[in-house]
Amino acid sequence: MKKLLYITANPKHESLSVSKTVGREFVRRFLDRNREYEFEELDLYDMDIPEVNPRIFTSRASLVTDEDYHRLSEHEKYLAGHIESLCEQFIHADFYVIAAPMWNLNFPSRLKQYLDCIILNNRLIRISDNEIEGLLGDKFRYMVYIQSSGGVYPNFPDGLFNHGVDYVHDVFTFLGIKKFYKILVQGVDDDKIGRHKALEKAYDDICTVLHKISRTTRGWFLN
Ligand SMILES: Cc1cc2nc3c(=O)[nH]c(=O)nc-3n(C[C@H](O)[C@H](O)[C@H](O)COP(=O)(O)O)c2cc1C
Repeated sequence: MKKLLYITANPKHESLSVSKTVGREFVRRFLDRNREYEFEELDLYDMDIPEVNPRIFTSRASLVTDEDYHRLSEHEKYLAGHIESLCEQFIHADFYVIAAPMWNLNFPSRLKQYLDCIILNNRLIRISDNEIEGLLGDKFRYMVYIQSSGGVYPNFPDGLFNHGVDYVHDVFTFLGIKKFYKILVQGVDDDKIGRHKALEKAYDDICTVLHKISRTTRGWFLN
């Protein structure tokens, strides 16, 4: 079985959240068409995500080992184990869907906290004297990033406002994710667009992205 990992970063209940509504609709339609996938879900606002702290991380992106590990308190050992299992869960997925709102031109901080936990040395990256390389290129992985925003952010000037989208794209492409798609649910709080129209457009965008993905999985690599 392949695995789809669905990650949400929004404290709102799904029934009130545009990004979570679109995310749910995306995974529902995707899983309906791709029966070989099993499904796991992480609600980053309904779980513990450890904070990076120097007792648990000995150096950049490296968890404590050996003597340093044995010096940890029971709680710190639990946190280290939890970080490791979040990282393992991430590595084993083939398809990622992240749904988040834009907050002050970026995504909510819980998502960054999660990424700081899972991007571990010798797991997602390898740090050597001269370089850092991403390790997720060992199989064909996809990512779909769904972002809702109150306003509308045009595609130009390039990347000036969409820091969250750009960041997720850059990090995951670097790590080795082969295909990155974004669905922008824009103008949710705009009088002229609003939630309903923004959702309608997003549902069309879901169709477009699913179509592109199915062409890729058939090996055409056209998109
Ligand atoms: C703390 C906070 C910061 C926000 N910052 C922005 C912003 O910079 N740009 C924007 O267009 N909308 C911003 N918004 C509006 C949200 O992006 C919008 O209401 C949200 O995407 C709706 O999706 P949701 O229902 O999934 O939360 C902000 C909302 C909050 C709560």
